Amino acid sequence: MYNDNPTINDLKQPLDESKQGDVFYNEQMLTPQTGKKFYIESYGCAMNFSDSEIVASILAEVGYAPTKVMAESDLILINTCSIREKAEDNVRQRLRQFDKVKKEKPGTLIGVLGCMAERLKEKFLEQEKLVDIVAGPDAYRDLPKLVATAAGGEKGMNVFLSREETYADINPLRLDSNGIAAFISIMRGCDNMCSFCVVPYTRGRERSRNAFSIVAEATDLYKRGYKEVTLLGQNVDSFKWENPETKEVVNFAQLMEMVALVSPEMRVRFSTSHPKDITDEVLYTMKKYENICNYIHLPVQSGNSRILKKMNRTYDREWYMERVEKIYEIIPDCAISADIICGFCSETEEEHQDTLSMIEWANYTMSYMFFYSERPGTLAARKYPDDVPYDVKKRRLQEVVDLQMNISHKNNLKDIGKTFKVLIEGDSRKSDADFKGRTSQNKVLIFPKKDGLKPGDYAEVKVTGVTRATLIGELV
Ligand code: SAH
Ligand code: SF4
Ligand code: F3S
Repeated sequence: MYNDNPTINDLKQPLDESKQGDVFYNEQMLTPQTGKKFYIESYGCAMNFSDSEIVASILAEVGYAPTKVMAESDLILINTCSIREKAEDNVRQRLRQFDKVKKEKPGTLIGVLGCMAERLKEKFLEQEKLVDIVAGPDAYRDLPKLVATAAGGEKGMNVFLSREETYADINPLRLDSNGIAAFISIMRGCDNMCSFCVVPYTRGRERSRNAFSIVAEATDLYKRGYKEVTLLGQNVDSFKWENPETKEVVNFAQLMEMVALVSPEMRVRFSTSHPKDITDEVLYTMKKYENICNYIHLPVQSGNSRILKKMNRTYDREWYMERVEKIYEIIPDCAISADIICGFCSETEEEHQDTLSMIEWANYTMSYMFFYSERPGTLAARKYPDDVPYDVKKRRLQEVVDLQMNISHKNNLKDIGKTFKVLIEGDSRKSDADFKGRTSQNKVLIFPKKDGLKPGDYAEVKVTGVTRATLIGELV
């Protein structure tokens, strides 16, 4: 779910890349007719993509309509990520390109949103002269004011981090949507303090959103034809919302059940699960509801207990393995994926081997793999030398990537002959004679179209072959 590259849609796993050009409006939303337009690009994790839809909603209320054409916009926004150095480099590079647009159309405002805005604060305005607006992840309600300030010729900045803000009452304006799958943000921030990670500094304290507002959003999406929601948080298992009236507490398993009950026709996914917090109750709830997908993204980061301790992940190899065993025991056909960091401070060759053996043992269907990138201000940056040489990091990462590709491929080969219920998302990227759908396990399955079937429908598809990353099949 992470994107360091300057493309808008890579990350939107459940969405259909082929529909990049469409902007869908919420029917109930009326944009005041000002003729003003904004253009927005998002980088980083799904939370950022979800936030951009909140931003779009807030701007639409004050008369800014979204456009896909940068040159015709009055306001260019970039929702940024700080997770690795490369993510920030990409943003700076992108700003150079915005500069050209601004020169051609003076008066265009440039705004930087998200984690990099939060991390750099006023430094951003000093370093990047062309930037007019800087807004952190909890300051989006203030955007109309910041835009007005910038239009008046001054810089607009708000990087205040809140303990309460969840944007619960804002109905996101779905951008780049295929009209079938949508993200729902259920919580914000993170309290975990993994030593390598910048997120607690850029997104602040963890807080959970009103459970009823989440169910209302899911219900609204279903009524508008959506068939899949992904519940988003940095650590969804620590979701905890107390009903202020009854004092009853809703945990993640209960929330998931509430959302699953919106309709058996609507699939429920979630991300990200934390190995230390994922409970058996969550697993039994997944088993109970057919529409909760059998897929868990369970970042391991490292397969070695000493490194995990240094990362402050608060679980060890044995704990992680126990959780994986439990998942396969309760949901035998569950797919598990991971995030992996190679070459964290002081990692030895042997410790790296533990990560490789974990990939094989856990049988991940896929992984997001990175080499360690030191982030200023984090515990690791302050306490541990970034001492694994760049070449070694890269070589270890390559070994991890090669092994994962191998395991994914073997995993896919095992699916040949099996039949899966897929949700059709749209045309396959390569051919409009084929549909692209997704299995409960989050694997993409390509199969020939048949009259009467359309995106948003479910189909039973038998796997007949595999390519490198996708399954090929035919309708049964
Ligand atoms: N909340 C999620 C992760 C969010 S960040 C979780 O705890 O699993 C997404 C991923 O980026 C992390 O899982 C980690 O693998 C990677 N990452 C975070 N900080 C990093 C860093 N400094 N260098 C390299 N990769 C990093
Ligand atoms: Fe970062 Fe750890 Fe929080 Fe994930 S759980 S966002 S890795 S601090
Ligand atoms: Fe990046 Fe912020 Fe997400 S740092 S990964 S956009 S929480």
